[in-house]
Amino acid sequence: MQLFLLFGYGALASAYTGSNVPADCDILYQFTGDNGLEAPTKVIKVTSVAANATTGVPAHCYVEAQIDSLGGTTNTVTYLPARGEDWVGTFVSSGCGGSCGATGLDYIYGYGSPLGYGKDALKKGFGDTLSTWGSMRNNIVNKINWAYLSTHLTAVSGKAMVKFYYGTPAKRSLFRGGSTGGRQALVAAARYPHDFDGIITAYGALNQTGIAGLQKVYLSEVSMYPNRTQILSSSDITALNKGALAACDGNDGLVDGYIDLSYRCDFDPIDILCGGDNATSSTNCLSSMDKVTAARGMYGYPSNSFSDKLIPVRFPPGSELSWGMWTTKEGVDTTESSLRNLAFQEALPLNWTLDAYDWDYHPYQLGIMEDIYTADFTGLRLFRERGGKIIHYQGWADASVAAGWTVQLYQKAVEEIGLERLTDFHRMFIYPGMAHIDIHRNENGTVGWRTDYFDYLTEWLDTGVAPDMLVIEHWNMTSLETMGKRPYFAYPKTPKYVGGKCGGPSNPANWVGVIPDETERGEDYPWPN
Ligand SMILES: *[C@@H]1O[C@H](CO)[C@@H](O)[C@H](O)[C@H]1NC(C)=O
Ligand SMILES: *[C@@H]1O[C@H](CO)[C@@H](O)[C@H](O)[C@H]1NC(C)=O
Ligand SMILES: *[C@@H]1O[C@H](CO)[C@@H](O)[C@H](O)[C@H]1NC(C)=O
Ligand SMILES: *[C@@H]1O[C@H](CO)[C@@H](O)[C@H](O)[C@H]1NC(C)=O
Ligand SMILES: *[C@@H]1O[C@H](CO)[C@@H](O)[C@H](O)[C@H]1NC(C)=O
Ligand SMILES: *[C@@H]1O[C@H](CO)[C@@H](O)[C@H](O)[C@H]1NC(C)=O
Ligand SMILES: *[C@@H]1O[C@H](CO)[C@@H](O)[C@H](O)[C@H]1NC(C)=O
Repeated sequence: MQLFLLFGYGALASAYTGSNVPADCDILYQFTGDNGLEAPTKVIKVTSVAANATTGVPAHCYVEAQIDSLGGTTNTVTYLPARGEDWVGTFVSSGCGGSCGATGLDYIYGYGSPLGYGKDALKKGFGDTLSTWGSMRNNIVNKINWAYLSTHLTAVSGKAMVKFYYGTPAKRSLFRGGSTGGRQALVAAARYPHDFDGIITAYGALNQTGIAGLQKVYLSEVSMYPNRTQILSSSDITALNKGALAACDGNDGLVDGYIDLSYRCDFDPIDILCGGDNATSSTNCLSSMDKVTAARGMYGYPSNSFSDKLIPVRFPPGSELSWGMWTTKEGVDTTESSLRNLAFQEALPLNWTLDAYDWDYHPYQLGIMEDIYTADFTGLRLFRERGGKIIHYQGWADASVAAGWTVQLYQKAVEEIGLERLTDFHRMFIYPGMAHIDIHRNENGTVGWRTDYFDYLTEWLDTGVAPDMLVIEHWNMTSLETMGKRPYFAYPKTPKYVGGKCGGPSNPANWVGVIPDETERGEDYPWPN
């Protein structure tokens, strides 16, 4: 599995007080798909689940089903409010993470609670048959299903199921996904522009082959000795995080543990070499030049004989505490598995190892697989023209999907269709300090980031007024306590602390959105005017 989506959102309780009417869920065993047109579906299991007054989740039918197509299978999980009056007529499909299915159905529970949108929405889980990268080995059907087809089949089958159960079609259809699911979202909008009216896409592995085929290889190489021992220990990584914060945390006018404009933070690990002129501490320091070199590599770009910036993005200062996925032996093993089985059209030998990776050869062999997997913002014309809307978010401190990919795709889209047309249907939010999967890691543990993205999206679809600002709640994932709220502004604006009102940084009124000036922007990420 390449990207892990195991962190749940807290249950978003709603005010459901309806009686626990026993549901006739079993009728769903008679559902067979969309009349054999595109997504023949076999219902495997139906469970009638009682309402829960504590969580506000209404009585619902839980359905596991299989869609068969092209000789491949897509497994789905669906939650249907049992009573028609509990359903507002919205169909929601959720994307999956990593290689999908690797953690089974619990995974779908973990990512956003079932019926997470409260009593009013239909929440549709999504899974597929792929249990490891290995199942994609020389299996083009599984690769295509994972790339995009199962997203579409799930929408077709799910909408048919809704119509079968309630006797009326969904009035609105939404998709939400992060990581692999974030990529699925944009692929869906490009290839099947009629499947969804609104999309929430988060930290998407948009350039899958660029990530799996190059960036992870590079990070594995710079962070390990050839014998696969880690160069940077976890205390080295903590030291680097402290060094980066000391150097750049104040960029946005507030020292608060969240680095903004992190891509232009020019923290150099030599500055924390133990005993060096610049070392500020004898404990939070790097004990050897090997460690400094490895850390510089982690913040750097891969190169080969033809280019010293083979991938034009990097993991910036502030992302350190999430590096563990690539800087450990497990990280290297996953990278090897995805290279052998997923990245190239023809699988590499099972005994192939990263030692055989050739920087002058392999990066140019991604070929057709890149076209199959990759998502970007171009090709969304039909989705845009039929009124589709996209809320897109990502964190600068993400060390699985570099925010830089997303920003550069955004810039490319601005050049192609213009800023006005892009922001008319696509609003992007890049959060300082957020890592992969809606969390922030700091010295004290993990902070969750949440808001009701569906509310923002629904309001946009209802009123036509796009959100300029999202208010995100930060919460302590250990104690579950709320830690305050912060506003985040639509790209290219970034939050700047101005203060002056009560409540400090937790009061959104103490922040304004600003467009950084030229000197603040840095060379890697051109900002649209
Ligand atoms: C309702 O949900 C809560 C929180 O998830 C859970 O602890 C409780 O067991 C549930 N109650 C019932 C009756 O299922
Ligand atoms: C994906 O990444 C590869 C490798 O860096 C690059 O060649 C390609 O242009 C990227 N594709 C897109 C759509 O960004
Ligand atoms: C791996 O290589 C490094 C650097 O040469 C060395 O310090 C370390 O002891 C080696 N570890 C093992 C387990 O061989
Ligand atoms: C100390 O920091 C300064 C400013 O970042 C840098 O120019 C210099 O090279 C550093 N010196 C050492 C020995 O790390
Ligand atoms: C991989 O296996 C093949 C076939 O058994 C063998 O010829 C080759 O030498 C092996 N390669 C490595 C790197 O072990
Ligand atoms: C961690 O907790 C300590 C003690 O409460 C506090 O002083 C410090 O600011 C916290 N660090 C962060 C990054 O919030
Ligand atoms: C979360 O709360 C626990 C218990 O109060 C505390 O020890 C910890 O430092 C907090 N974590 C963060 C990330 O602030």
